[in-house]
Amino acid sequence: MDARLQRRVQRYGWDRAAGDYEKSWSRQLEPAQTLTLELADLNPGERVLDVACGTGLVSVPAARAVAPTGELVGTDISAVMVETAGVRCSNAGVSNASFERMGAEALSLDDASFDTTLCALGLMYVPEPVEALSEMRRVLRPGGRAVASVWGARVSCGWSGIFSVVDERVNTEVCPMFFQLGTGATLNRAFEQAGLTDVRSERISTRLTYDSEDEALKAAFAGGPVAMAYSRFDEDLKQDAHDAYLETIETFRVGSAYDMPGEFVVTTGTRPI
Ligand SMILES: C[S@@+](CC[C@H](N)C(=O)[O-])C[C@H]1O[C@@H](n2cnc3c(N)ncnc32)[C@H](O)[C@@H]1O
Repeated sequence: MDARLQRRVQRYGWDRAAGDYEKSWSRQLEPAQTLTLELADLNPGERVLDVACGTGLVSVPAARAVAPTGELVGTDISAVMVETAGVRCSNAGVSNASFERMGAEALSLDDASFDTTLCALGLMYVPEPVEALSEMRRVLRPGGRAVASVWGARVSCGWSGIFSVVDERVNTEVCPMFFQLGTGATLNRAFEQAGLTDVRSERISTRLTYDSEDEALKAAFAGGPVAMAYSRFDEDLKQDAHDAYLETIETFRVGSAYDMPGEFVVTTGTRPI
């Protein structure tokens, strides 16, 4: 799939996925988001950018950490996501945050205008992750910190079968780079290629739990990166894809629930002075 098409598939897919995203994923992603925020070490008064901000699960605590004088800007390729993040902030009484639709590889933001840039669980969907990291470096002030988290290696993520199940049925690769970034030192190298220094990574293991077959299916198909492709399946193809995916996660079934492994990598780097 060429880069432009991949961006469109993600943009409109996440527009569709936004409504199901938190219910399906907020509990599962929490360990990676928490470590991303911890390593960002935000302080009041700072200006922070949250790239691929989604519904604002990281944006809200980040905005609070830099309040009252600091500011958060959230960007995402999906219009529905940035709108949802804005509503989340208003509902949470957070007034030092603003959101704009923007692809990660081309940020229309000034050079050296942020103290910290974050990207929680977004880089795997970006066709050119090094370009996205270069943009994060460009908008950082010298000495500022970039933090990004991604899913870990394919073998460590129980739900990874979703991609081959969908790819086979659309004859293309929906997210070709998905698990590559979280394998070995790939993300470290991407940070370095983007001109970031003092690069360090932490790898964390987690468990993903789903109370029922329906919950596991909804998370995999409707609330994530394959939502666009899935929305075009007719009922028979949906059923066929559900059956195939359930087969890939059968070993993680515990009664009517599922308990599967997951892994995240969280990486930090600094814009050289
Ligand atoms: C798994 S969600 C993560 C959202 C949020 N950071 C969080 O931790 O909950 C991935 C997000 O990446 C966004 N995304 C995908 N491709 C993107 C791109 N090329 N540029 C910017 N955002 C992108 C999606 O729209 C989606 O909101």
